Amino acid sequence: MRIRTWRFVGSALAGMLVVVAAWIGRSYWVLGRSYADVQKPIIVADHSAQAVARGKMLFETLCIECHGGNDGRATGRVLDEVPAFLGTFYSANLAHPETGVHRRSDAEIARVLRYGVLADGRFSPAMSAFGKLGDADVAALLGFIRTQPPQLAPGGQVQPRTQLSVVGTLLIASVGGVNVDGPAVGVPTPVKEASVEYGRYMANVLDCAGCHTAGFGSAKMDDPEAFAGGFELTDPTGTKIWSKNITPDEETGIGRFSVDDFADAITRGVTPDGYLVRKPMPLFSGLDRIDAEALYLFLRTVDKVKRQNRPGGHPLERAHSGDPPETLFVNLGCAACHGEGGPYRGEIVGALDKSDDDVAAWIRDPQSIKPGTKMPAFGHALDVEQARALARFVKELARQRGS
Ligand code: HEC
Ligand code: HEC
Ligand code: HEC
Repeated sequence: MRIRTWRFVGSALAGMLVVVAAWIGRSYWVLGRSYADVQKPIIVADHSAQAVARGKMLFETLCIECHGGNDGRATGRVLDEVPAFLGTFYSANLAHPETGVHRRSDAEIARVLRYGVLADGRFSPAMSAFGKLGDADVAALLGFIRTQPPQLAPGGQVQPRTQLSVVGTLLIASVGGVNVDGPAVGVPTPVKEASVEYGRYMANVLDCAGCHTAGFGSAKMDDPEAFAGGFELTDPTGTKIWSKNITPDEETGIGRFSVDDFADAITRGVTPDGYLVRKPMPLFSGLDRIDAEALYLFLRTVDKVKRQNRPGGHPLERAHSGDPPETLFVNLGCAACHGEGGPYRGEIVGALDKSDDDVAAWIRDPQSIKPGTKMPAFGHALDVEQARALARFVKELARQRGS
């Protein structure tokens, strides 16, 4: 009797092991095999001024986030915001003179964007999220890339290849998988106008649902609780923060936001009650009024979900708060860029030879002084007096570092 039981357990275990081994083997095969034979979309760069401007906006909103290196160029980096259990992700150096976009054809780059298949045939899970970009937007991105913008000025090191862990391989193969069967061309780009359709497209492209929907999965736009928030993220100080409910629910979502409230929240980073929208919510400063209005109209159409926001993150900062500069430096996120280990630690030395007023003006609206700079504006958060105090603090910090 006993022996029989054990025999049964033994063969069940052996059976399970075979299944698990097959699963692991299949996952490694799916993600590791060459996709070099996947067709390259025949999409060519659109060099019209309108397309190049659109491509610039898309590149700065979508691509620099991952590919932006320490020097402000798209020289790539280790994506340390990706949880370590998935593996080590390195974004490619797009500016590299030998392996960057200068040496890739339009069709090769279009294939990376449409399917996540790299020039050497490897599949990149990180790049597989752009299949939803319409043909016209891919052509616009190519148009911008071919203008040789400063972000792509040749240079930098070749980045190491992305290494997935065992868990990462299993998860990505099972949840996301590889989808290279869709048509190479013919993905529509809706006309840019204040419409639900264009808003849905932009929400998809900008992946609002990815952050604003709890759980994991590749079809979050279709989740019954899409946009209800509660997805766990980490802010620049390393503290846990949960995304907010942006369904039209009046009580727990953004049902009471006017279109201006909404535009201010996503493009200027201020909530209707005067608080700063904290990282990692991106500041979508490249979006204009039409983009914001379309997103707003689309979000009005999603199902209302009643779910309270979960508090978390570093302390809430009120725009125009009376906090001292050293606190503002951390809470406003200056430290995330200019602190020790920040990507722009050294950039504040530029303040040393300027007056407090000039530095304060820079902090409040750097775009007006240097269009295209990656430094966000803080005019919504700081009045002139506070900006001046912060300017003095930053100059002192730069002086101390220099000595
Ligand atoms: C979520 C992070 C992320 C975003 C956002 C992102 N990339 Fe990538 N990109 C990667 C990673 C990771 C790789 C692959 C590196 C590897 O595995 O070696 C990559 C590779 C590439 C390559 C491949 C180069 C080659 O060898 O063929 C190109 C081109 C590229 N990205 C362009 C873009 C463009 C254009 C955008 C904006 C539309 C963008 N990327 C947005 C992470 C990202
Ligand atoms: C990288 C993740 C991420 C992405 C992508 C993202 N968000 Fe957010 N968003 C957040 C987080 C986190 C918060 C909460 C910030 C806070 O609590 O201060 C937030 C807050 C907001 C708020 C403020 C809500 C309130 O009640 O104050 C709005 C509106 C918003 N997001 C809209 C959007 C839209 C629209 C998109 C797509 C265009 C988007 N978000 C993309 C993470 C993200
Ligand atoms: C997202 C990253 C980022 C954040 C956040 C950020 N900065 Fe910057 N900052 C930059 C970059 C990039 C530059 C270099 C500007 C350039 O050359 O485009 C810069 C430059 C500066 C300079 C030098 C200006 C000059 O004239 O050379 C000062 C001073 C400065 N930042 C202060 C601040 C303060 C204060 C805060 C917070 C209120 C802040 N920054 C937040 C990215 C950032």
